Amino acid sequence: MPKIGSMSLSAPLVLGIESSCDETGVGIVRGTELLVNAVASSMEEHVRFGGVIPEIASRAHLDAFVPTLSAALEEAGVSLDDIDAIAVTSGPGLSGALMVGVASAKALALGTGKPLYAINHLVAHVGVGILEGGKLPENLGALLVSGGHTEILQVNSLTDDVRLIGATIDDAAGEAYDKVARLLGLGYPGGPVIDAIARDGDRKAIRFPRGLTMPKFIGTAEDPGKHRHDFSFSGLKTAVARCVEQYQKRGEEVPVADIAAGFQEAVVDVITSKAVRACTEHGLSNLLLGGGVAANSRLRELLAARCASAGITLRVPPRELCTDNGAMVAALGAQLVATGAAPTGLGFSTDPGQPVSMVSLVA
Ligand code: KG4
Ligand code: ZN
Repeated sequence: MPKIGSMSLSAPLVLGIESSCDETGVGIVRGTELLVNAVASSMEEHVRFGGVIPEIASRAHLDAFVPTLSAALEEAGVSLDDIDAIAVTSGPGLSGALMVGVASAKALALGTGKPLYAINHLVAHVGVGILEGGKLPENLGALLVSGGHTEILQVNSLTDDVRLIGATIDDAAGEAYDKVARLLGLGYPGGPVIDAIARDGDRKAIRFPRGLTMPKFIGTAEDPGKHRHDFSFSGLKTAVARCVEQYQKRGEEVPVADIAAGFQEAVVDVITSKAVRACTEHGLSNLLLGGGVAANSRLRELLAARCASAGITLRVPPRELCTDNGAMVAALGAQLVATGAAPTGLGFSTDPGQPVSMVSLVA
């Protein structure tokens, strides 16, 4: 392979490190080819709290990082010497959790002399699409739904022009699933169990509010309201709590399956209709879905149907690449290397609120 200094000219071998929430991810890609995606999750340690506890997540990253890195290198059959560049999530995410990945990445970069790229977690969720479906299409939108985020992005250029179209103004969609599951006594994480129980319920039995869908928030295409493309799930969570209370007050059995189905329908209805509207109004004929909630069966079903009716081509990476992982960080890092973007170097800090427009940090 032709080289400039220690950097390959084509198909760079990139190590990606992810620690923004409760997954310690180390991925290795060669250009657009996935070599390994090693992930250690601290989810089990958060179960009794019903949500991710940042301090516990940070400590778990410290414990998991070196074993996960060693396993990834061994599985890919490469050594740190072979790596052309290192990419790490610098934000957005939990501050302490991000620090563990960033400090580890800096240590590796310093020790090996490899260039280091500090990259955006949300854009990495989009970049991962390259590993399975090949080159990303033009006119691309992205819908990211997980425990930490709910965003609609416009991806003009993966490496240097990504814009935020809409985002949640309170809870993330996955967070709403987790909180509602707790209310219904279904445990953590809430998404998979609500998804399963909702299949036994009637999604039309109880109609829960659709956040930020009133005309005063959405306006019109010509005169958009402030929250036309934004989401809100905290009112929905409160509505579920009130509903459960009403049944309990009356001494009646709580219809858990119907509530789960009605709640899920409210979440999925809003997400899919807003995503399709955002794509249509921004001329985006392709949509990539990412985040842990992408596993949701009703979300997949309704999004596929609504995209098809609107003439939007939907792309959904495999589940293990939708949830937080290091391969997505490596994939975006490899694209940055391939386009000749300048490495960040060591002089940067984590940015828990890193805006989506900052694909990689410039030191
Ligand atoms: O991307 P992810 O693995 O990690 C973080 O956000 O940290 O997403 C986890 C979230 C959790 O809130 C979980 O309840 C939700 O994704 N989730 C689901 C499903 N599977 C996981 N939500 C709805 N339906 C599912 N099948
Ligand atoms: Zn994520």
